[in-house]
Amino acid sequence: MERRPVEISQQALERQQQICAQIRTAWEQTGRVPRAFVDTYGCQQNEADSERIRGMLRACGYEITDTEEGADCIVINTCAIREHAETRVYGNVGALVHTKARHPEQKIFLCGCMMGQKQVVARIRSSYRHVDGVFNPHELWRFPELLQTVLHTGRRVFAADQTEGNIAEGIPVVRASTLRAWVSIMYGCNNFCSYCIVPYVRGRERSRRPDEILSEVRSLLSSGYRELTLLGQNVNSYGKDLPDGMDFAALMASIASMPGEFWLRFMTSHPKDATFRLFDTIAQYPAICRQFHLPFQSGSDRILRAMNRHYDRASYLSLVDYGRSLMPDLVLTSDVIVGFPGETEEDFADTLSLIERVRYDALFTFIFSPRAGTPAAAMDDPTPKEEKNRRFDRLCELQNSISQQIHQGYVGKTLRVLADGTDGASVTARTEGGRLVRLPADESLVGQFLDVTITGSTTWSLVGQPAANQEK
Ligand code: SAH
Ligand code: SF4
Ligand code: F3S
Repeated sequence: MERRPVEISQQALERQQQICAQIRTAWEQTGRVPRAFVDTYGCQQNEADSERIRGMLRACGYEITDTEEGADCIVINTCAIREHAETRVYGNVGALVHTKARHPEQKIFLCGCMMGQKQVVARIRSSYRHVDGVFNPHELWRFPELLQTVLHTGRRVFAADQTEGNIAEGIPVVRASTLRAWVSIMYGCNNFCSYCIVPYVRGRERSRRPDEILSEVRSLLSSGYRELTLLGQNVNSYGKDLPDGMDFAALMASIASMPGEFWLRFMTSHPKDATFRLFDTIAQYPAICRQFHLPFQSGSDRILRAMNRHYDRASYLSLVDYGRSLMPDLVLTSDVIVGFPGETEEDFADTLSLIERVRYDALFTFIFSPRAGTPAAAMDDPTPKEEKNRRFDRLCELQNSISQQIHQGYVGKTLRVLADGTDGASVTARTEGGRLVRLPADESLVGQFLDVTITGSTTWSLVGQPAANQEK
């Protein structure tokens, strides 16, 4: 198949690998192993990008550490989704002045979604002079070259003008877990929800080729990964830009039919593109977790229109009803925004009633945060902050009581879990639906699927015991 122009050429990527080798050799000659720290804000896309940044750093000879103190290279991978996320980044980057004063050779880079905004880059350039380099999400594949320039010249580099999205295959990765892996299947977003900054900073939707995805998945499964999460801002539109027409349901089906016991998850789904067929696929394949993260954002049709979401309450509920009719045990989670400009008490009541109707296992709840350059930031917003906070509290109270009731309903049931770690005196595990379960400590369980009988619950997690007579 002919390469699409959005793909960075193999030649260009090989050049980055050569640069990594040059940097590594230069460090080897100093007789010292350099250390690098990568800090990540934001969503799973950023987590996945940070794994690639660590991969490139390791290829450059760096050992990855978990502290900025004394690190030779610091990379802060930023998130722009809400003001709060940005404020935290500014605070933490400001504090690095002191870390760098103690270690003047330290090189500091900022990347990620904040660096996709011109005003942010300008502010870093003028007011954060201890930052050595900036690159936006489209320039991530060129990080080795940027690092080398900074190391050689001592000058600051700004790679933030590129606005065209791309796909770069074969960048090395250092994965955070040996059990769970992120697999990006597409990048960018075309939806322009009126509140959201992502399409501006991550570019247009572009799908990785199925053969690249399937070969990454095969290699993960053969190296023992037990849980894969397919990532994209809107996975349901996977493949729409590909010439050979494989869509998301077909991609899931080809992964889910691979041999071995593993779990397959995906996020995020936009309700306007989620299809009944996708639910059919989930129901058909045991490897696909019966969990669906389906952000509804608001229960009011008026607000959904203002958000430019292209679905309404009734069509959202028909998806939920169809999914539940096929799989009564389907676990649903969602995102919701409180206090969108112009949201009235009546609109908010519609959001509460939708939550009561659907009964999500868990909700990610956000107060609207105006993002410069998005349409919603310019909308009239007469509701006072205190009223938004009160609505937010009411919503959280409702959801907490639902989560608690749902969790109580698990007590006495036997569920399949994947044990993933330890926490003090317990082993932690996740159910197929993504709920956290604590088990009595037995480290030999970590990395295994097992059946667990649920013996207790709280708002946030479950307590269990390995079920008797099971095959491990
Ligand atoms: N692509 C995903 C979500 C990405 S952002 C999707 O469409 O579902 C994750 C969540 O952050 C969104 O679902 C939304 O609930 C929230 N969010 C995005 N922009 C926001 C803003 N300006 N203010 C408050 N919450 C926001
Ligand atoms: Fe943002 Fe909407 Fe795209 Fe999600 S679908 S990333 S909320 S614009
Ligand atoms: Fe944040 Fe960018 Fe993700 S804005 S939520 S890190 S896509």
